[in-house]
Amino acid sequence: MKKIYLYGNWKMNMTKAETEGFFKGYAAAVEPFASDLGTGLEVAVFPAFTSIWEAGYRSKDMKNKPIIGAQNCYYEPKGAFTGEVSIPMLKEQGVTHVILGHSERRHIFGESDELVGKKVKACLDAGLTPVLCYGETLEEREGNRTFEVMERQLRAAMKGLTPEEMGKVIYAYEPVWAIGTGKTATPAQAQEVCGWSKKLIAEVAGKDVAPVVLYGGSVKGSNAKELLSMESIDGALVGGASLKPESFLEIYGAYKN
Ligand code: PGA
Repeated sequence: MKKIYLYGNWKMNMTKAETEGFFKGYAAAVEPFASDLGTGLEVAVFPAFTSIWEAGYRSKDMKNKPIIGAQNCYYEPKGAFTGEVSIPMLKEQGVTHVILGHSERRHIFGESDELVGKKVKACLDAGLTPVLCYGETLEEREGNRTFEVMERQLRAAMKGLTPEEMGKVIYAYEPVWAIGTGKTATPAQAQEVCGWSKKLIAEVAGKDVAPVVLYGGSVKGSNAKELLSMESIDGALVGGASLKPESFLEIYGAYKN
């Protein structure tokens, strides 16, 4: 069986107190799958900046603790960048993974392909794993521009990286029209894009690179098995269903059983 990456993007949810509550239930929720952790399952949560420390603190003595990541960062190490958070600041909190280029960052906050690329490079230089999100809007899909848009996003993010670095990125295909809408891509649609992505990445990085590609967009227990069973999908980037440990781990449970 392949290794499944179960990554939870908490977005602007989960106060410090709610984060504490999440970790009260986490150990029990992950316990049935404890023997899969490592080779068969990798779990990460991405709290808001203000809850990262709490997540690390509440999970530090847990045998089966998740990876703690961040939802964004800035590429400069310090300086006059009001409102931004640097990579050294995140590393100090124990962060090892950073979500970059999420569609909400691209569309609500106007992040460009170029900016996302700089952040990807800065994370890799600092030894952090970027979780690079990319995906098309409904308008782009309906206008038959899905692959053109994604190729642009992927190539911009990989620009200037060595093949080895390209292999360290975790890629997350998230069709914008399926995020937070309850509308999931069909397993065939998700497989088509994830398979295509792997081919494109191999074309750019070389055949020795075997990229990890996740699917994200309204993944939950009831649709997880079909999606995660698809050949080119290595895991899920989960928003809404990751806010409770039970609904989050239910996604892996559904796949396994
Ligand atoms: P969703 O969010 O699971 O709530 O659709 C996914 C994401 O944006 O990462």
